[in-house]
Formats: sequence, C-alpha cells, structure tokens
Amino acid sequence: MHQNRTLIRGDNLTEMRNFPDECVDLIATDPPFNSKRDYFILYHDEHGQEPDVLVKAFADTWKWGNAAEEAYRELQIEVGGQVGDTIEGLRKFLNETPMMAYLVMMAIRLVEMHRILNPTGSLYLHCDPTASHYLKIILDSVFGVDNFRREIIWNLETASGYKSKVKGFIRGHDVILYYVKDFDKFVFNKIYQPHKPEYIKRFKKVDEHGRHYRDDRPGGRRQYLDETPGVALTDVWSGIMSFQQNTNTDEITGYPTQKPIELYEPIIEASSDTGGLVLDPFCGCGTTLMAAESLDRQWIGIDLTYLATGAVKLQIEKYFPQLLNQIKITGTPENEQQALELARTNPFNFEEWAVTHVLKFKANAKKVADGGIDGTMKFPLGKIQGKQAFGTAIAQVKGGSYTLGHIRDFRTAMQDAKADIGVFLVTKPPSQKMLAEAAKAKTYEHPSYEFTAPCLQIYQIQDYYNGILPKLPHAEKSVL
Ligand SMILES: C[S@@+](CC[C@H](N)C(=O)[O-])C[C@H]1O[C@@H](n2cnc3c(N)ncnc32)[C@H](O)[C@@H]1O
Repeated sequence: MHQNRTLIRGDNLTEMRNFPDECVDLIATDPPFNSKRDYFILYHDEHGQEPDVLVKAFADTWKWGNAAEEAYRELQIEVGGQVGDTIEGLRKFLNETPMMAYLVMMAIRLVEMHRILNPTGSLYLHCDPTASHYLKIILDSVFGVDNFRREIIWNLETASGYKSKVKGFIRGHDVILYYVKDFDKFVFNKIYQPHKPEYIKRFKKVDEHGRHYRDDRPGGRRQYLDETPGVALTDVWSGIMSFQQNTNTDEITGYPTQKPIELYEPIIEASSDTGGLVLDPFCGCGTTLMAAESLDRQWIGIDLTYLATGAVKLQIEKYFPQLLNQIKITGTPENEQQALELARTNPFNFEEWAVTHVLKFKANAKKVADGGIDGTMKFPLGKIQGKQAFGTAIAQVKGGSYTLGHIRDFRTAMQDAKADIGVFLVTKPPSQKMLAEAAKAKTYEHPSYEFTAPCLQIYQIQDYYNGILPKLPHAEKSVL
C-alpha cells in the first residue's frame, strides 16, 4: 500500500486496482464531467512581451471505441449484478454515444473506489448536471440506494450573466454526490456555521452572568445562545466562489478546472478523522490534497498527466515547502534507465515530464512546430527604471539523436525569443563540436546579484539523477 503523501502519475483504474480492499477512509474527487471539450492552460505573459501560450492539460471528449467496449464487457461479466444490469439498461437507452463511453469509463472506476473504501468511508463525486443524473443511478447500483446520503449543490456564485447568449437560465451550480460505504458505520463530524444575525437577535435577555438567552418558547424554558453550536451545514453550499468568477486570488494556479480548497475542506472535515487517509484519483493540481494536508489527514493523489503531478508539486512548494522532500512521486521516471525508456517509447510524455518536473519550466502547448521552444521560465532581474524586469530562459528537449545543426537552430530560437539562457536537454552526450557551438553563446551575468552561467547549456538527463541541475537564476514563484 502506498504511504502518506504519495502522488501517482498514471491511469487511476490501473493504480486503484493495486490498492488492497478497504484501505482508504475518504475519496473526494472531481473527474472530467463529459463537458465535450478539451482543457487548456493559458499562460499569459504578464510582462506583455510574448503572445499567450496554450497548453493542453487534458481531454474531456469521449467516443465509443475499443476502450469503452472493453470496460462495458468487464462491467457485464466481471462485475455483473446490479451494476451490470444498470449499465446494460443505460446502453439500451443511450446507445454507443459519447455519454455512454463516458459513463462506462466512470462506472468501472467507481466500482474500484467502492472496493478500496473502508466500511467507515465515504465518496464525494464532483460533477455537474451534464451527467450527474446518470452518475447517481450508477452510484446507486455500486454503493446501494440506501448508502446515498446527499446531493450537495455548490452555488458557483455566477456573475450577472447578462452578456451570455445562452437561451435559458444561466447555469449556476455544480453537483457533489455523496455516498457512504456502509450506512451503519460511516464517519461523520457535523460542521456548524455561525448563526445569522436575525437568529442571534432573538436571544434578547441576559442573565446575571452576562449570558444571552431566550425563553419565548412553549414552556418558557431558557435556551442559551452559547449552547447552540451554530447552523448545521446543509447540502446547499454558497459563499465559495468558483475561479471563473473569482479571478483575483493567489490560489489560482492556471490549472483548468481547479476548485477552491475551501470547497474541499468541509468534505474532509466532515467525513474523515485526523490522520485518516484521503484519496483523490483525479487529483488535477491537488486541491483535495492541499485541503487534506492542512487538516492533518494523510493523502494519496493520482493523475494521468505529468502536467498535473508537476502542478501538485508546485502547490506543495507553495503551501507546505517543508514537506517537499517527503512527497513520493511514482509513475514518473525514477532512474536514468526509466527516463531513457520514456524518451524512447513516448517522446511527447518525456518532453512534458522533462520540462515540468526536471526543469520546472512552463510547457509549450505546441508539441510540433513549436519554434524550437518546449518550455519557458521567467526570472526576476530586479528593478530597471523603477519597474520590475524579467529575464527569460527557454528549453528544448531532445529525447533521441541530435546534430550540430540542432544546436545552431536552438541558438537561433534563443535569439528570436530574446532568451537570456537556453537549456538544451538531451539523453545522449554531446560531441566536442557541439560543446564548442554551445560555448559560442557566451556567458550570462545577472544584473542584480552574483550569478553567471553559460547562455546555452547542453544538459544531459543523466546529470539529473546525479543531483546536478542546469545553472539557472532563481525563478518567479508561480504555480504554473
Ligand atoms: C476536473 S480535473 C480535476 C481538477 C482538480 N479538482 C483541481 O482542483 O485541480 C480532472 C483530472 O482528472 C485527470 N484524469 C482524467 N482521466 C484520468 C484517469 N483515467 N486517471 C487519472 N487521472 C485522470 C485529468 O488529467 C484532470 O487533471
């Protein structure tokens, strides 16, 4: 079983299948919603010097194909029972549509989530009205109708919407479906919110000890204000703005579909105890994990993309820097051999991993025709004419063979991008001629503090595993 603070890069179905039965206290997760769109990260150049860049983070478009057919078959033959019947019925109704492909993808994973939950455990599944009604039927079949607890409505605090061209009411809420594994055993810690002023006003009388009370109820019994713990949280949650509305907060990482930590805190507080293990199998940039850490719970996060696990790492650095060395990341190359294998078998993933995890640069959206730039990093130069100025480092990743011509082209790309430093990340050692070509790019000197480095650095991935990093100035502290 994975230890506390493990981040797994991989498909959650495969990963959860390696978990033993009944080992997790709470699953709070926010999978793709079948929104029929792909999600991109828009990197703004806040200094106005470069066009914005788009990075594809993950796809939320579904198609009936071999993977869906295989999941359907497993749900029929290996899972069977009520789940099999429900899925069969849904297929009769929905046919081989994108919605059905999405639902079988979810159903097979919900079966695993149910298996690994402790009898005291709970599942919170964040979705929206696109598919929440179907997911609820599937959850009824997986968890049992009696173990449904609540449908939480998160009021997105949508702005006025007067500019929207949508014919109809403006969508203003998400849905969080809450199920427990066992109705007789589940953990629940009640959460109270402060009383409303109108309620407090009813406690007009004050006793000899200064305590406010009311006695206007039948029987005249005294009810003291300080004996009522507050308003028990209902299943309609307001006052937590989505990041679509609240764009002016440090919490925003740029990871698409990021949710506020404040939304996940009550879930964790209510449905787990201190020290309990929280899992988010679709963890994105790690909102659930940050909430769990801040509430002294253990956690495990899973996500398919290097971009997400890279973002979680940066979130840890931001909120819990003291823990950075305690995070265990699996599913990313752990040694030189694995890195080389990834470069050979999946060059795009190698590039994404190298840029986001090794260099901690922002990844470039375009994987082809990218102008020779796979990643970018900004670093502060200090104030120039009263304004904060920034330098730029760019990176290019070559997972396979490369030539002298590639180094020359990278120098040109550096000049075109007005980059101060360039990192040419490779898996094979450069020749003497290549090193000489790189050396032509001269030395970079930081204007504000003592820092010099070769402008063009050929960096071998082998060095990473020997604890050697490229020579770079301190970067800006931003999550993505
Ligand atoms: C809606 S986002 C989660 C956002 C997250 N709540 C946050 O605040 O950042 C869904 C995530 O699920 C991930 N994902 C999709 N399919 C997956 C799979 N099969 N296994 C693991 N992660 C997956 C995507 O990469 C994406 O990061």
